Amino acid sequence: MSAELSPIDRAKFVAAKRAVDYVQDGMRVGLGTGSTAAWMVRCLGELVREDGLRVTGVPTSRRTAELAQKLGIKIVTLDEARWLDLTIDGADEFDGDLNLIKGGGGALLQEKIVATASDQMIVIADVAKEVPALGAFPLPVEVIPFGWQTTKALIEETLVSLDVLGRDATLRMNGDSAFITDEGNYIVDLHLRRIGNPRQFSLVINQIPGVVENGLFIDICDIVIVGHATGRVEVRDINNGTVEDGQIDFAANENLFAEF
Ligand code: 5RP
Repeated sequence: MSAELSPIDRAKFVAAKRAVDYVQDGMRVGLGTGSTAAWMVRCLGELVREDGLRVTGVPTSRRTAELAQKLGIKIVTLDEARWLDLTIDGADEFDGDLNLIKGGGGALLQEKIVATASDQMIVIADVAKEVPALGAFPLPVEVIPFGWQTTKALIEETLVSLDVLGRDATLRMNGDSAFITDEGNYIVDLHLRRIGNPRQFSLVINQIPGVVENGLFIDICDIVIVGHATGRVEVRDINNGTVEDGQIDFAANENLFAEF
């Protein structure tokens, strides 16, 4: 069955599989959103069902909540959990300092709140997500629907003074209508090509009235687990300055592929 997975799914799966090794009995865990995070939820669900692992999940989107519930993972809201031991999530890009762009799936606001409320954030990614500088992936900015065109114009005006290579801003669509986030907001995607100073960029953009949050995660991620289609996994820990190499055996995990 694993042979039927695309190379990218194999890479996502092995990163996810390695990440759940960090989940210990009794932990409160933030559950990310996206296709890589969905693999992680499946791996976690298996540990809950097969090994009796006790874990409380805080999902970062309705999609993830539905999947976790279906797989038998106990979920609560962040208000119920208050603080988490660990969050595991995907990313659209990460750089050498483990700063991220997130929000390709539209869940950046809840993802950032949940990751910030965690002792540790682990990002799981296929190797294609690594970049020398953030910004090739369009940066999602969540904005309030009220006056969104004015907010977008203010963002565009602000971009002129920031160190970026591109300045196009587009409203994210879902067919003929605006894409609506789980919080009822819109997303403006910024096509910046390269962000010279992500920390400054994030602070400045968040000052604009109408902007709720942006998809830059600065100094939030502690560990990136990079998956390769061959089964190789690299664990990069920014706090310890360590890089570990490992290998995941696809044959030992066929039951996970058979389920989906
Ligand atoms: C959702 C996200 C995702 O983590 C990001 O888009 C990566 O998704 P995928 O794992 O499907 O490549 O930020 O808002």
